[in-house]
Amino acid sequence: MPLAGKRILLVISGGIAAYKSLDLIRRLRERGAEVRPVMTAGAQQFVTPLAVGALSAGHVYTDLFSREDEQDVGHIRLARDCDLIVIAPATADLMAKMANGLADDLASTLLLATDRPVLLAPAMNPKMWSHAATRRNVATLRKDGLTFVGPNAGEMAEGGEAGLGRMAEPLEIVAAAEGLLDGGAKPLAGRTAIVTSGPTHEPIDPVRYIANRSSGRQGHAIAAALARLGAQVTLVSGPVTLADPPGVTVIKVERADDMLQAVLGALPADIAVMVAAVADWRVATPNMEKIKKQPGEGPPPLMLTENPDILKTVGHHARRPKVVVGFAAETQDVENNGRVKLQKKGADLIVANDVSPETGIMGGTRNSVKLITAAGVEQWPDLSKDDVAGRLAGWITERLT
Ligand code: CTP
Repeated sequence: MPLAGKRILLVISGGIAAYKSLDLIRRLRERGAEVRPVMTAGAQQFVTPLAVGALSAGHVYTDLFSREDEQDVGHIRLARDCDLIVIAPATADLMAKMANGLADDLASTLLLATDRPVLLAPAMNPKMWSHAATRRNVATLRKDGLTFVGPNAGEMAEGGEAGLGRMAEPLEIVAAAEGLLDGGAKPLAGRTAIVTSGPTHEPIDPVRYIANRSSGRQGHAIAAALARLGAQVTLVSGPVTLADPPGVTVIKVERADDMLQAVLGALPADIAVMVAAVADWRVATPNMEKIKKQPGEGPPPLMLTENPDILKTVGHHARRPKVVVGFAAETQDVENNGRVKLQKKGADLIVANDVSPETGIMGGTRNSVKLITAAGVEQWPDLSKDDVAGRLAGWITERLT
């Protein structure tokens, strides 16, 4: 029971989803947490401090310049005298303030003053959520180490509009809070993992190469998620524009051959997650000099040869890791092709996704995957690549322990 006896500072900002915060208070208290609520001026337009106070059975903090409150706990203590801060709903405005370090009311001030973990449950109109400014702020807050739960897709409370922006349900927020408070426990401590990520570049000549649209987002997110659970992670990455995930050893490679050597060099390991979109073919003999156009001769033929299959090599290796996970990038018959890959590659799990251009998965930030194991197929909902990574790290932990 990670919530029992825990002190949670609940910041409620001004959105229609604030009515769900009342239920959230109940759910948190049911699990033994103590909830100290802070409301912004906007929040008080949607729910009253009286209702919030009645449900939390305590004082509701609303004012930065309240002499009484300041004498009682003071905003700096309020910011630190808790195990976790939950912001639900987190409005676009509050997130913008946080991303920029503004502190002009009680909520924003204590969020700047805190050294505690922070969980945000954003809620806003889908257009506001997808606006470039909000995207930038979310990226900044993530980089600052804050955790998000939701938003979910669905109908907006104001009606007529659908899309990403609904606040996560109270029980989802409770689960995310439990996960964060459990963070002290590192179930993968002492375990080692190898993750491949990104595309490979296969040279044609010194200036040209064969590649694919993989961004590396999913693989990097998985490396980060395993590291958060305490694993010692080696990430073998093809060329990507992403930052190295914190706490992970990164080996940068270009070609499939180099990726294979780096992976074999990192064995033995407990876990292998092969996410890279390895080029299946390379040019048999790349030209040492830039290939020139030859007048009258037409384009040069490219002689291709097959690249080593890294997942298959690891899946059948004498020092095969205890848990071997592969991905399957498909544009048709996802389930069947995934099953074939599970068998052929010697994996325990194939995470299959439909990478047809209309899904926007390859190169995008979201993913919709099917988990294929010998036991059957499980479809996960549409999730961010970070959420897929978190869940997958959980799956791997369970499998190992
Ligand atoms: N993979 C690998 N080495 C390769 C090709 C693929 O390690 N040379 C891994 C990928 O990282 C992924 C899985 O194998 O985990 C499946 O990759 P995918 O591209 O879906 O399948 P392929 O094996 O390339 O088969 P096909 O292109 O025919 O679908």
